[in-house]
Parts: sequence; C-alpha cells; structure tokens
Amino acid sequence: MPHAIYPSLLNCDLARLGEEALSAVTAGAHGLHIDVMDHHYVPNLTFGPWICTALRDYGITCPLDIHLMTTPVDALIQSFAAVGATRISFHPEASLHIDRSLSLIRDSGCLAGLALNPSTGFDHLTYVLDKVDFILLMTVNPGFGGQTFIPHLLDKIACLKRYLQRHQAPIRIAVDGGLKLELIKAIAHAGAQDLIIGSALYNERGIAHNLTQFQHSLAECLPP
Ligand code: DX5
Ligand code: ZN
Repeated sequence: MPHAIYPSLLNCDLARLGEEALSAVTAGAHGLHIDVMDHHYVPNLTFGPWICTALRDYGITCPLDIHLMTTPVDALIQSFAAVGATRISFHPEASLHIDRSLSLIRDSGCLAGLALNPSTGFDHLTYVLDKVDFILLMTVNPGFGGQTFIPHLLDKIACLKRYLQRHQAPIRIAVDGGLKLELIKAIAHAGAQDLIIGSALYNERGIAHNLTQFQHSLAECLPP
C-alpha cells in the first residue's frame, strides 16, 4: 500500500462529526484516526466506543484506527472491536500484559499496534514482533492535538525502519503528532507509511484542500 493518510477526528468540528468524517473520506483519506483518552493515562478525556457506532451508522465504511491512550486496555479493545474498529493500538506502559493485549486485538479481528511515546525505546518490541501489525510512533507527547512535532524524532523514525528491516518484520510505521505539510516529505523519507494528521487537515482552509496538498507532497516521495 502507498502512503496512507489518517485524519485525526480529535481536531474536527465535533458538532458535525458525520459530515467531517465523510468529507475526509471523500477527499481521499485512507481511514480515520480516533484518539481515545481516559483522563488517567493522559490528562485529556475523549471518546468511547460509541463514536465508532455513530460513524458506522452514518455510513462511514473506511478503516477506523483506534489509538488507545488509556489504562487498562483489554476491556476497551474488545468493546471497540465489537463496534467496527479496524485496527487498535495501545501504549505498552498502559498494559500489564503486552503480549496478551496484542493477541486480544488480533483475536477480536483487528490489526494490532503498539504506540510508542517520544521517550519510549524499542525494547518492548523484542519478543512480540510477530504479534504486531503496525507501530504508532508518537512525535508529540500524547494527550492533545495541535502540538509541535519534536524534531529529533525524525531520527527515531529512521531508526525504527532500520530495526524492522534488521528483524525482517513486515510491520507498518505510523507517525502521529504535529505533522505539518512542510515536514511531510522528511517524515515519509525517514520511513513513515501511515501519516496521522489532525490540526493541519482540520482548519479554516478545509480538509479537501489540505489533504490534496499532503497527497501531492507524498506523491513526490518514493513509495514506502
Ligand atoms: C495526540 C493524538 C494525535 C493528535 C494529532 O495525543 O494522538 O492523534 O490528534 O493531532 P495533530 O496533528 O494536531 O498533532
Ligand atoms: Zn493519536
């Protein structure tokens, strides 16, 4: 699959959730990213599984990418899988049993992801690589949209790419946090395949215009 763009609904006009989701898909988004925050693992509080039900009922059929920023994670994995999630990621620090939580995601019929905070290394991956479909590399600290990309994490993306190549692991690299148009080529060049973008898509210029600009930039990069 070429680079895939996942707009983050955290940043859309929530009063018009269905329309905002539909316009993202119409504009060419591969899927929609949903940030689940519990006011415990992160300071913010957002959506429960009902958001998937609402989107599916509205007619949204694209992949729904659930980013759990909660602790614990297992019960929510099952709840989100039951209402139409396509892939689910969680932070390793938030689960007592990482291997079990990853298995639970796949057993529930979804693709499994591990989300790594800016300060989290690759140690957690060592013994679970065969149970991971994608890694969500956070390029801001989790909890809020609209933050600034932490520049030295560009190297971490490239480092993760080399790590996965060394282990011959067919795992996609997703990057989440502070992605802006002027950064996107460097981020793709470093090895990112799935681009999760919030405030740079949902703003006054409109998602159709913004998404087209990102697509044009990515089209000039080598395929991932
Ligand atoms: C941050 C979230 C991100 C965020 C992205 O905790 O995980 O998905 O919504 O939004 P921007 O692109 O504005 O950083
Ligand atoms: Zn996210």
